[in-house]
Amino acid sequence: MGRLDHKSAVVTGAGSGIGRASATLFAQEGAKVLIADLNEDGLAQTKAEIEKAGGQCLARPVDIAAEDTVQDLIETCEREFGSLDIIYANAGISGGRVPLLEGTPEDWMEILRVNLIGPFLAIKYGAPKMVAQGGGSIICTASVAGLRSGAGATPYSASKAGVISLVQTSANQLAGTKVRVNAICPGLIETGMTKPVFDRARERGSEHKIGQLNPMKRAGAPIEIAQTALFLASDESSYVNGQAIAVDGGLSSSHPVVPGHMA
Ligand SMILES: NC(=O)c1ccc[n+]([C@@H]2O[C@H](COP(=O)([O-])OP(=O)(O)OC[C@H]3O[C@@H](n4cnc5c(N)ncnc54)[C@H](O)[C@@H]3O)[C@@H](O)[C@H]2O)c1
Repeated sequence: MGRLDHKSAVVTGAGSGIGRASATLFAQEGAKVLIADLNEDGLAQTKAEIEKAGGQCLARPVDIAAEDTVQDLIETCEREFGSLDIIYANAGISGGRVPLLEGTPEDWMEILRVNLIGPFLAIKYGAPKMVAQGGGSIICTASVAGLRSGAGATPYSASKAGVISLVQTSANQLAGTKVRVNAICPGLIETGMTKPVFDRARERGSEHKIGQLNPMKRAGAPIEIAQTALFLASDESSYVNGQAIAVDGGLSSSHPVVPGHMA
């Protein structure tokens, strides 16, 4: 018995990193998965991995922040798989490390479009199907950058704070419908997005310093976010709603302290 048997899921950003790990895990646990990403090669690789393990998967190389595309994804999942039980709106972009005063409205618009409007559209078109069906679980990837400063540039952090607000307000707007909406706030995870950080550290021989700011003293792996997404996707989290769950090795649990001076 899989934890997601008889369920169907849409997972965005599944051509890499957290999305790939989550789609693969969902399929291993019995879900039929519709995966979406702009990266066609990455998407094909994820699909091949899922099918090799005996899972059922459809792939769509699309922009998950385009309204007609999102609508089509949702309808495709329902039409091809017979239901829409889970949406993991995970795709995102970092926008790079542009300092606050050098940012442009155009940069901001693109980051907000992908990171915040993408998840909004997934909820806008996915939730009514789930309501009609009698329930469902929507998960969005926010970030520790949405909780406070220090984990991304300003527009990225603002977009992720927006995602946290989006899940809180959506969970309440959908009160009484049995549709749950939650966010995951990952800490530093080794993925396509953070590859430059890890590559640079490896080149310098300072890889051991990565993740030293959190009490686990290491970076996370995509599977560690996927495991949380699996919990939120499954009925095991049936009373978890409107939450932003940090999966960050404890990074966001503390104010900065001088080591050895404060518990
Ligand atoms: N890696 C980390 O440390 C970290 C930390 C906190 C939050 N996150 C968030 O996790 C999520 C997944 O990122 P990741 O770390 O796996 O990075 P990643 O770059 O490996 O994966 C992100 C995927 O999203 C896809 N994507 C981007 N824009 C898209 C669009 N408009 N339409 C369709 N697909 C699009 C990319 O092609 C890519 O495959 C993102 O929302 C990111 O902001 C990551």
